[in-house]
Amino acid sequence: MLEKSEQARSPMPRRQSKVTQMFESDAIENLSQETRSFAPSQSFSLDANAQPELYGRAKADPLAFWADQAKQLHWFEPFTTTLDWSNAPFARWFADGKLNVAYNCLDRHVQAGNGSRVALYFEGEPGDEQVYTYEALTVAVKKTTNALLALGVGQGDRVALYMPQIPEAIISMLAVARIGAIHSVVFGGFSADALASRIQDAHAKLVITADGGYRKGKATPLKPAVDEALKGDNCPSVEKVLVVQRTGGDIDWTENRDLWWHDAMSAASDEHEARGFDAENPLFILYTSGTTGKPKGILHTSGGYLTQAAYTHRNVFDLKPESDVYWCTADVGWITGHSYVAYGPLANGATQVIYEGTPDAPHPGRWWEIIQKYGVTQLYTAPTAIRSFMKLGRAIPDQFDLSSLRLLGSVGEPINPEAWMWYREVIGGNRCPIVDTWWQTETGAIMISPLPGVTHTKPGSAQVPMPGVSAEVVDDNGQPVPNNHGGYLTITTPWPSMLRGIWGDPERFVDTYWSRFEGQYFAGDGAKKDADGDIWLLGRVDDVMNVSGHRLSTTEIESALVSHHWVAEAAVVGAKDEITGQAVVAFVILRQDELGDAPEDAEISQALRAHVAKEIGPIAKPQQILVVSDLPKTRSGKIMRRLLRDVAEDRPIGDATTLADSSVMGAIGAKLAGGATD
Ligand code: PRX
Repeated sequence: MLEKSEQARSPMPRRQSKVTQMFESDAIENLSQETRSFAPSQSFSLDANAQPELYGRAKADPLAFWADQAKQLHWFEPFTTTLDWSNAPFARWFADGKLNVAYNCLDRHVQAGNGSRVALYFEGEPGDEQVYTYEALTVAVKKTTNALLALGVGQGDRVALYMPQIPEAIISMLAVARIGAIHSVVFGGFSADALASRIQDAHAKLVITADGGYRKGKATPLKPAVDEALKGDNCPSVEKVLVVQRTGGDIDWTENRDLWWHDAMSAASDEHEARGFDAENPLFILYTSGTTGKPKGILHTSGGYLTQAAYTHRNVFDLKPESDVYWCTADVGWITGHSYVAYGPLANGATQVIYEGTPDAPHPGRWWEIIQKYGVTQLYTAPTAIRSFMKLGRAIPDQFDLSSLRLLGSVGEPINPEAWMWYREVIGGNRCPIVDTWWQTETGAIMISPLPGVTHTKPGSAQVPMPGVSAEVVDDNGQPVPNNHGGYLTITTPWPSMLRGIWGDPERFVDTYWSRFEGQYFAGDGAKKDADGDIWLLGRVDDVMNVSGHRLSTTEIESALVSHHWVAEAAVVGAKDEITGQAVVAFVILRQDELGDAPEDAEISQALRAHVAKEIGPIAKPQQILVVSDLPKTRSGKIMRRLLRDVAEDRPIGDATTLADSSVMGAIGAKLAGGATD
């Protein structure tokens, strides 16, 4: 018999449920030890938008509750049905109503007498500023709408946006929405190849881009990637490219295809009357990584999406449009930028800051300087940013006046209790409630979060489903787990901002999200319920990684690696990383016949990282590439990534009994000591 302590260290196989196998680390157990809890201050609670009765109202009649939320929007034609779930899982919300998303974000605020309220404070990385009132933003969007109409964009057409974080990005999204067309924003950090595949999948008619943007203290070109993506007859659907002049850098120009934004605007009228579109009219496609090599075009529609984006923004961030200056640091290329930079805040008539650049340009206190300058009241950002600030030390934020802040938000990945506490103490001065918000590209809006002023928050927990949302943690059989147990996160009833499908692939939609557990939406995340039933997110349970809050697919990076002529086979895992949450670690088997005069591992690593950056984008570059001679596989040929994660995270290797060749892991472990990193 082994002693207890020895058992814990033993690599001997243990009997485990699938759920616990997913979390080889001690994450589940560690979370149970968190006992700190913070009650909202009385002054915050008294004046909070969300009061405890919200939970009761939603529970008593969820559909009536959502209908009430939807009625806070402007409808050209009111809806009479709330939810049609007869063709589940394809939902229709408020389907017989008609609204215009852009009108809701703009005109109605002007008509209510708030045209002179600031909508956007734009801060460029070089320090340039622009201020848009609701009135000015409405005019800009009307002009852009007319310019797009003149280019032949109509209802249902797809428009791809590949832009820096500048006002024109938001203006373009709203103008597309105003026409009833569909935008597909592609993050500026993706490569030309990634942009091309997204344009092709959506058959985009128009691309809106900029010559470049400012990042890390320099002008970074964007237009060359568009030229590369469209070259030859690569994207035949694209008729025109509209180009904002942001940096003034030299760019190539294709006559009859490229058009300057400022020329198009000077020719456009600033009169445009919005009309209503069906609530289920598609609003946007946003590509996100799944478990296969092909990104999924997540489809969102209008009425339900805007309802939940606005409702959550108002209640989770306690938005007071007359006095707050809200700042969400997400790029519009991600879902957070869609729901909590563009649509939620503007639907609520918020005043917000948008910032073009990186947090450390030109100095590491730039964010805190921006908060001081604009008197930011709510900050919404990602744990990876908080952890990197934490590493730099409190002396930097301490130099700035952050006393305007009254609420802090976190999104994109689990926030570890230390980072949560640092955020609360150093940035929030121990007075700001923290809302850790769980949601996904697919859910469209926040699903699990504390309500500030109501919830007693625990560092690291996303806590409870929003009023109106039903989430569960279930076991392998789809049954709810008791408190103090872990399992898979599911959503058990439809919600207004749910994805309506995957662009062009209804089967994949059903397979990915609705087949794992009968009648429940499978989010792909592991979670635990603590003794109070509060929810703690534990990370993905599928082959999706989360690097700096960005979603990356292991399979997609593997395909990129294998497309290099040196690589015979590749396996990618996300290994724990102190700052970025996870880091991409790749194991590759090389083709000896292709290698030529035996390059060094470091040279191979450099070439393959550059190749991944070209295929997908710099965000997907592996942090570490290990050249191995074999990969751990089951007898049926499936790569056992769990074992590779053990190696990458430097832990004892878990249950390896199902390996076809049990010596493989020993050889990989030995190789790791001399692995190439840069
Ligand atoms: O794993 C969860 C993680 O991010 C995934 C969704 O990624 P994406 O669609 O890119 O959207 C990110 C921004 C909403 C989820 O499946 N995630 C997101 N928020 C949290 C989180 N994990 C833990 N805690 C969160 N607050």
